[in-house]
Amino acid sequence: MASVTLRNVTKRYGGAVLAVDNISLSVADGEFLALLGPSGCGKTSTMRMIAGLEDISEGEILVDDTITNNLSSAERNVAMAFENYGLYPHKTVFGNIAYPLVVRRRSRRDIEDNVLRVAAMLHIDDVLDRKPAELSGGFQQRVSLARALVREPSVFLMDEPISHLDADLRSVMRGELKRLQKDNGATTIYVTHDQLEAMSMADRIAVMDHGVLQQVGTPLEIFNAPANEFVASFIGEPPMNLFTAHVGASDDGRSPVLIGEHELLVLDDRLRAGALADGGAIRVGVRPKDFVLNASASDASMPAEVRVAEALIDRVLATLDSPAGRLRLELPAGTNLREGERVRVAPRADRIHLFDPETGKAIRLV
Ligand SMILES: Nc1ncnc2c1ncn2[C@@H]1O[C@H](COP(=O)(O)OP(=O)(O)OP(=O)(O)O)[C@@H](O)[C@H]1O
Ligand SMILES: [Mg+2]
Repeated sequence: MASVTLRNVTKRYGGAVLAVDNISLSVADGEFLALLGPSGCGKTSTMRMIAGLEDISEGEILVDDTITNNLSSAERNVAMAFENYGLYPHKTVFGNIAYPLVVRRRSRRDIEDNVLRVAAMLHIDDVLDRKPAELSGGFQQRVSLARALVREPSVFLMDEPISHLDADLRSVMRGELKRLQKDNGATTIYVTHDQLEAMSMADRIAVMDHGVLQQVGTPLEIFNAPANEFVASFIGEPPMNLFTAHVGASDDGRSPVLIGEHELLVLDDRLRAGALADGGAIRVGVRPKDFVLNASASDASMPAEVRVAEALIDRVLATLDSPAGRLRLELPAGTNLREGERVRVAPRADRIHLFDPETGKAIRLV
């Protein structure tokens, strides 16, 4: 097993495209880290550099204490499972899984034992003599994973390994991959652009955007304390409501955060960042679950009008118009709302997120 460390890693393609911008990141031995971000943010480029399939423009990648920049991919003991399965069509399932061991000239006995072991783990032991084309997409994906796992790599890289599967199978595979990783303890980096997948599988999540690492933390840390507006809006479904408010004149060491004349929150001056000058703008984030409906006018609240209310089995999803703009609320099942109804909404004071309007960085109220 092994830890993986990226030190100031940058990837440029042909001088013009900056795909990965000065990333530093450590993945602990045995950890499951999800690399999460929108399309084109540099996830695959990062993985290919760790695997040794792509040159590193600047910086260093270490496995344990060894700098791997100049090691070939075969020398790294890093296995990678790709989004598209890349199976050999003329080999049987057994032949495909066995291949990495065959090229390493392992004994026949050793090969057979190991293929059977991973095939059993992934429940594909009864299709070993079939060709890939005779299998469904889900089974092909498992064969591809088995081939990556059979080497018992110390580092396992998976780049959207289940993104082509249908929703049911994806959810089964999520569970299986997670269990597999727990069982074999391989340090795993798992690329996805699906935040639910990252939240449900990972010990920690690294969020990227435009080649830049935005935040690294446990799923709860990232959800509860997003480091900036990008992370705040990227994590959470429905997404966090984000709007601009302004800071009113300080009175008695306390400053109101206002939408028009409506007070949403009062900041203690001790907690105020220097950037928050009286009358200055501030970005406010409130998750759909973190609004209270029909607060009294005396609470920190604002009026809103219901546009749409969707009653689902376990909750009500509502869209409202307010002085802060359009809001999405997630309310308890059974909440009765009519279109056009006027209500008051109040953010839960302890759940409000504030961001610097210039930099987008979170302003912490601790
Ligand atoms: N071989 C290449 N030559 C030139 N540019 C490339 C190359 N590979 C990737 N890029 C560019 O680098 C950036 C990052 O690409 P990358 O494939 O790493 O993103 P990604 O996060 O994996 O995206 P996706 O979620 O779509 O797979 C993109 O702008 C992409 O167009
Ligand atoms: Mg990719």
